[in-house]
Amino acid sequence: MPPPRPRSASVPALAKINLALQVLNRRHDGFHELRTIFQTISLADRIRIDYRPGRGVSVAVVCDPPIENNIAARAAHALAGESGWRGEVTLHIEKRIPMGGGLGGGSSDAAAVLLALPALTGKSVPIARLIELAAKLGSDVPFFLLGGTAVGLGRGEELYPLPEPAPVRGLLVCPSIQVSTAEAFRALDRTLTVAADSRNINSFQYLSWELGERVPLQILNGWGRNDFEPVVGRQHPELLKLAGKLKRSGAGFVRMTGSGSAWYGLFPERKDAERAAELFPGTRTEIFDTIRRARYRALWRRSLREHLREVSTWPPLSRYAK
Ligand code: C5P
Repeated sequence: MPPPRPRSASVPALAKINLALQVLNRRHDGFHELRTIFQTISLADRIRIDYRPGRGVSVAVVCDPPIENNIAARAAHALAGESGWRGEVTLHIEKRIPMGGGLGGGSSDAAAVLLALPALTGKSVPIARLIELAAKLGSDVPFFLLGGTAVGLGRGEELYPLPEPAPVRGLLVCPSIQVSTAEAFRALDRTLTVAADSRNINSFQYLSWELGERVPLQILNGWGRNDFEPVVGRQHPELLKLAGKLKRSGAGFVRMTGSGSAWYGLFPERKDAERAAELFPGTRTEIFDTIRRARYRALWRRSLREHLREVSTWPPLSRYAK
C-alpha cells in the first residue's frame, strides 16, 4: 500500500489588541477577574502545518527564533488527547507578532493549530470543547477561536460578541521590552485595594455601549482603560514617554495592549498612521487594520479551502471527517 498522502495548509494567526482591560480582583485560583474588550488586527504570524497520517503522535516545531515549550505544539498534543488524531505534524511558524508585547501572538498560534489541525486530520472537535482546550492552554487562546470584537469576562476566556466598530487603521509601537504577564499581574496586586474604585467599571460599560451605537472608535478615547498602564509604566517609564508622543501625534485612541509593552493609536486615515510612525525612529512600528469577525473567518476558510467540506460552518468542517 502506498504511504498516506501528506496534507498541508498555510494559515494566519492574527494578533489582538485590548480596547480596554480592567482587573477587578484576585480570585481563589490565583487568576484575576477581568473585564476586557478584545479586537483582532491584521498583524499576523503565519503557520504552515504539515500533517502525515500515521500511528503515533509526533509534533515538531520549526520557528526562528526557537521558542521553548511552544504553546502551538502543546495545542497539537492537547488535540491528540481529545480527537485521537495520529501521525506526524510539523509546524513551521513565521513569527511577525512581537513577543512579550501584549498582542497575543503565542495564544493566536495555539488557536490556529486548534482550528487547522482538525481540518487536516478529519478529526473534528465541537467548538464548545475546543474553547475548553483553548482556555487550558492560556486565558487569551479562546478569543482567537472566534475573532472580531468580543468582551472577555472571568480570566478573559468567557467571551461574548460585541457589535463591531467600523474597521479602523492603527499604529502599533513595539519597544524591545518584553513584559511577563504573570509578573505584571503580581505588580498590579500590590496596588489593588478592596476600595470601591477597583470595581468601578462604569467607563468600561459605557465603551461597550458606544461600540453598540457604532460610534467611531477613534473618538472613544475617554472611555474604558487599561489597568496595566500605570503599573507597567512605573516599571518602564520610557513606555509612558512613548504613549505621550503617540497622543501628540494626532492618534484618537491611545492605549497599551494587554500587559504591554506595545502601545497603539488609532487614526482616521492610513497616511496619518504612517506619518506618526516617523516619530519613532529605531523602534519597531506596525500599521494595522482592525479585522471584523466575518473577515477573520473568511481568511481562515480561504487558507483551508482545499480541506473543507462546507463553506458555511464555524469552525470549518473538514472534508476528511467521517
Ligand atoms: O492564562 P495565561 O497563561 O495567559 O496567564 C499567564 C499568567 O498571568 C498566569 O499564570 C497568571 O499568573 C496571570 N493571569 C492572571 N489572571 C488572568 C490571566 C492571567 O493572574 N486573568
